[in-house]
Amino acid sequence: MPSTTPLDTLLGLREVLNLAVETVAEEWQAHGFPASLQDPLFETKEDALPSPRLYEATKRAIGAADMLQALLRYFYLEVLKPSLFHRLDQYFESRALHAASMARIPDILHQALLEGKPDGLTAQELSEKTGYEKNKCGMSALHILDLHSLYDAARIMRLLATNHIFNQTGPERFSNNRTSAALINNPPLANYIDLYGAESYASSQHLLAAFKDESLALESAAFARDRIYNAQGKTYWEYNDENSERHDKFATAMAGSAQTNLPALLNDYPWFKLEKATIVDVGGGIGTLSLPLLQKYRDLSVVIQDRESVIAQATEHWKANFPTAIEEERVVFQVADFFQPNEVHGAEVYMLRYIIDDWNDDACVTILSAIKASMSEKSKVLIVEALLIPAWLPSSETSTLTMAPDPLLPNYGLRFISLRNGTERTVSEMTRVVERAGLVVEKIWECRSAVHITQCALP
Ligand SMILES: C[S@@+](CC[C@H](N)C(=O)[O-])C[C@H]1O[C@@H](n2cnc3c(N)ncnc32)[C@H](O)[C@@H]1O
Repeated sequence: MPSTTPLDTLLGLREVLNLAVETVAEEWQAHGFPASLQDPLFETKEDALPSPRLYEATKRAIGAADMLQALLRYFYLEVLKPSLFHRLDQYFESRALHAASMARIPDILHQALLEGKPDGLTAQELSEKTGYEKNKCGMSALHILDLHSLYDAARIMRLLATNHIFNQTGPERFSNNRTSAALINNPPLANYIDLYGAESYASSQHLLAAFKDESLALESAAFARDRIYNAQGKTYWEYNDENSERHDKFATAMAGSAQTNLPALLNDYPWFKLEKATIVDVGGGIGTLSLPLLQKYRDLSVVIQDRESVIAQATEHWKANFPTAIEEERVVFQVADFFQPNEVHGAEVYMLRYIIDDWNDDACVTILSAIKASMSEKSKVLIVEALLIPAWLPSSETSTLTMAPDPLLPNYGLRFISLRNGTERTVSEMTRVVERAGLVVEKIWECRSAVHITQCALP
């Protein structure tokens, strides 16, 4: 690592940050400004993608700002919370966000705005509407050790406003800002937050035990059983099938997660070149990617394959959101097990979005081999998921994906977590799995999101 002294790192970061900030300003001036941070009415537009130059500069600025924080938080500067402690209690922030989202506070504040209250509501008013205790609606960032008081409207809101989620507009008064506005009338995103807030948070409780339990090793137990709900050997999917609320929430939560990367996925792969192709959406869920794909590219068709219970959900979802695709037979729903040879032969595309990252290598080889058996020479497999860049990489691995400049970490400080024993893979780990299944990686399409598209074909 070239930047070894703190001064070198500090000055290196200043250089990266200066350049990146200048580029961001230029791009904003040339192509339009984003909504201000305080804007309570911000709406994400489906095609609102940053230019590649703006995207890269933004990643660099965020990575540099993050690293600057780590560099500047000395252990003894208590008021700044040194780096270790800063990370230690961050779960309060995610708990507060979960609590605010579950009580639909963004919707409540939006309603208040429509009723002529641009400064939002007081903790007392929020308390009346949410049932949360008044004093707890606004936790201060520096006094959050009182666990007892977490679910209290004032404390929650103060903590979130300090993290730039919601505006604090008076002593005990809060309104939506650009960040919280993303949650207005957005049950899919709220469900995604709930998936993390309720389920993943609870399962993280078992992390230490899981590290020591061989039966939970990735090689033998990915998605095999779930401890938090005492699932007794059932897979996560079987457990969801028996719990209709979770089952419904999971499917829409996938749509919530798609909101963050949909514009990039729709635009950064040349779908238009496929023309009248059929895409087999393997383990497609309710079609969170294939539905908008068919809306944008009118010649494409899709076969959505999933487990029986999910196919029933998918059918309802398309009836409600894109009935003409059903009438025009551009979408077909198929109950299928992706461990068995694929029933659709010779399709142009077999798409796997958020599938490979659920399973261990052996299972992935089985899934990909089952597709391979049905592929023709013109078929492609598109693996749509994150590709991991560790904080250090051998130089042989630095060419495929864009890496951050020194002194940033090569991955810009982007963090990933994996749930329920799933795993994200590096390019070489992904390539190894693909090749074990007898396929080759033809190209990696870097998208302007954390999710990329790995295109594979027959050798
Ligand atoms: C993480 S979700 C991704 C869903 C969808 N691809 C998306 O991006 O929204 C994984 C999907 O795999 C499906 N699945 C799990 N095991 C399966 C199997 N053996 N055969 C077919 N689908 C399966 C689940 O039902 C679920 O819909």
